[in-house]
Amino acid sequence: MFAAIFSAPTVYASDQAIIDAFKLAKLKSGELVVDLGCGNARSLIIAARIFGAKGVGVEISPYCFLKSRWNVFLAGESKNIKIIFGDFKKAKKHLGHANVVYLYLLNKVLTAIEPWFFAAIKEDARVVSLSFTFTEHIFIKSAKTFNLGKKTKIFLYGKDNL
Ligand SMILES: C[S@@+](CC[C@H](N)C(=O)[O-])C[C@H]1O[C@@H](n2cnc3c(N)ncnc32)[C@H](O)[C@@H]1O
Repeated sequence: MFAAIFSAPTVYASDQAIIDAFKLAKLKSGELVVDLGCGNARSLIIAARIFGAKGVGVEISPYCFLKSRWNVFLAGESKNIKIIFGDFKKAKKHLGHANVVYLYLLNKVLTAIEPWFFAAIKEDARVVSLSFTFTEHIFIKSAKTFNLGKKTKIFLYGKDNL
């Protein structure tokens, strides 16, 4: 937790992996994307610019939060993207409206959020997780992609696939 809050560098997904994740989720114009742990907000900027979506990101690291806000401002997407500072749970009410949730979090983090996360999302929400899987829920579909120069997969989940 200390590292998540105070350490500056984290791992940011490659654009190609983010685009492939949104293709797998069939993200449409006007839909809402939530990124839990938005890093540099690149996912939300891609969602807005390429797919015409709106976005909400939450970030616990002050460095990443400020970087996200700055990147969104530079991208001219401040009207479409909101960045919240704090723990994942701060985005809970937005999760209830999200059409697509994009996640790039370790297995142990996915396992920790799994109980409340699936309770918080809409019945028809699509969840895409880059590289890592949940413990209890079973993915519906997967797709191959490249992230950080390596082959990996994206996993698509629905609310009730146990
Ligand atoms: C692997 S990075 C992914 C960044 C971005 N979503 C992407 O795809 O490039 C995970 C991010 O989650 C953030 N994070 C970790 N624990 C968190 C928590 N409890 N609440 C909010 N953000 C958290 C980290 O600070 C980090 O920026």
